[in-house]
Amino acid sequence: MDSLNRHEDYGQESLDETHLLADPIEQFKQWLVDAEEAGIYEPNAFVLGTVDEQNQSRSRTVLLKGVDERGFFFATNYLSRKGEAVAANPSVSAAFGWYSMYRQVLIQGFAERVDPSESDDYHSSRPHDSQVAAWSSHQSQPIDNRTALDAQFAAALERFENTDVPRPDYWGGYRIVATRIEFWKGRSNRMHDRIEFVRTRDADGKFSEWHVQRLQP
Ligand SMILES: Cc1cc2nc3c(=O)[nH]c(=O)nc-3n(C[C@H](O)[C@H](O)[C@H](O)COP(=O)(O)O)c2cc1C
Repeated sequence: MDSLNRHEDYGQESLDETHLLADPIEQFKQWLVDAEEAGIYEPNAFVLGTVDEQNQSRSRTVLLKGVDERGFFFATNYLSRKGEAVAANPSVSAAFGWYSMYRQVLIQGFAERVDPSESDDYHSSRPHDSQVAAWSSHQSQPIDNRTALDAQFAAALERFENTDVPRPDYWGGYRIVATRIEFWKGRSNRMHDRIEFVRTRDADGKFSEWHVQRLQP
């Protein structure tokens, strides 16, 4: 396990308040495109953090499937552990790590279910067998063995053979509405650059402007 004793130098390229776009979501899009162009595997993968009803935190990887001024869209099973956690506590975090670029984006905010029509649109865009998989897995529930899981998938494939697969009502999208977005750039000697955008939301749900601050590494 050589990696445990390695001390990488994260380079000189800097991250300056004046170089970042004023809108952090636009800035995020630019970094995502940079990660795509750099050939990073699954550049849209991020670690989603939730807190459940018992105040237990849990992280897992999911794929970003959309981003616009409203926030960050991903799709999953609403009855999964993450779905149950979000129902109890909508506070979530997202961590994108593009390590070979010495870049990280950390997001905090809350998750809300997207409009069912948006989930329908995304479901329709998926390959047939992925749509079937949404029917054949009760995500996060225990199952006896692989054979039983394969049997569930086979049964669903047969059920939807030569027909359109409707979206299960327990499967769909969430949008992470961000209140904090931090851009992190690794620098030499662990003197990294961290620029954080923060906004608040008033009782009517109206957001303030983004406030920008530099954080110590
Ligand atoms: C690269 C990668 C991408 C993944 N993308 C998704 C996804 O978009 N949606 C999803 O529900 N699970 C995705 N998963 C699986 C989740 O990490 C997780 O196992 C699953 O959602 C169940 O999580 P939960 O029990 O905490 O709800 C992905 C896993 C990996 C490694």
